[in-house]
Amino acid sequence: MTQHRTIRRYKNEGIDWQTLEYAALTASTSEYLQSYTIIRVTSSDIRHQIARISGSQVLQQENGELFIFVVDSARNIRWAQQEDPNIDISRFTDWNAFLAGVFDATIGAQSMLSYGEEHGLGGCYLGSILNDPQEMITLLNLPPYTFPILGLIMGVPDDDPDAKPRLPYEFTCGENSYPALSADLWNEKHESYNDQLIHYYSSRSETFKHTSISNGARDFTDLLMKHSSAPTKHRLEIGTILQKQGFSLPQ
Ligand SMILES: Cc1cc2nc3c(=O)[nH]c(=O)nc-3n(C[C@H](O)[C@H](O)[C@H](O)COP(=O)(O)O)c2cc1C
Repeated sequence: MTQHRTIRRYKNEGIDWQTLEYAALTASTSEYLQSYTIIRVTSSDIRHQIARISGSQVLQQENGELFIFVVDSARNIRWAQQEDPNIDISRFTDWNAFLAGVFDATIGAQSMLSYGEEHGLGGCYLGSILNDPQEMITLLNLPPYTFPILGLIMGVPDDDPDAKPRLPYEFTCGENSYPALSADLWNEKHESYNDQLIHYYSSRSETFKHTSISNGARDFTDLLMKHSSAPTKHRLEIGTILQKQGFSLPQ
């Protein structure tokens, strides 16, 4: 588990995708509602279109199984309406329902990734499918009350990157309250993490630098600066698209 690295290149070898799907589907699920659906993409046309939407290098290759995790209240609404066509569906479309779908889909995806990693596979999440959620909805025939939240590509690793250093423990874990760092400790940890990342990035090969989502950022400060001015693509429309899909998520 502590050996995780995102893998972005895969060998041309088949994998046991059914067991991976099963590993996802047996994960914990909020209120046992199972508010998500997994779509495995096997059509090369659809895959190319997702590659275009995502823009991610990882989809510029044919290898690896691609799964799209979809927040799904549609199935539960249909199921309940079969019992009572006039049922109030607001409990299936509100913030709680949407968040439950996001939790379920994300936990399912992480279970798939962790199971795969334990069994010699590697994977890469594709949050970049959110570069154009409306196109993803059309492409995958997603009905009302669903939303594509995350992609995950899994395969036999054809790459062996170093593990990326995480932020210092003092920043990210607190005990009983939010971590309180003195200004001195903050500055010390801030600088040492930047130094660590400079070393990490400079020791990587040119090929791998280009496949990184970090866009060649020099250190964590540079990553945040680049992030703050990155193009938003269609992501600012997510609220409107969710509303169009039937979710009711007031501010
Ligand atoms: C929700 C989420 C979305 C992500 N989306 C992408 C993506 O679109 N493209 C990509 O190459 N990596 C993506 N990643 C992978 C991250 O870039 C990667 O986890 C991070 O850089 C840390 O590297 P590591 O996983 O090797 O430790 C995503 C990860 C998460 C958790």
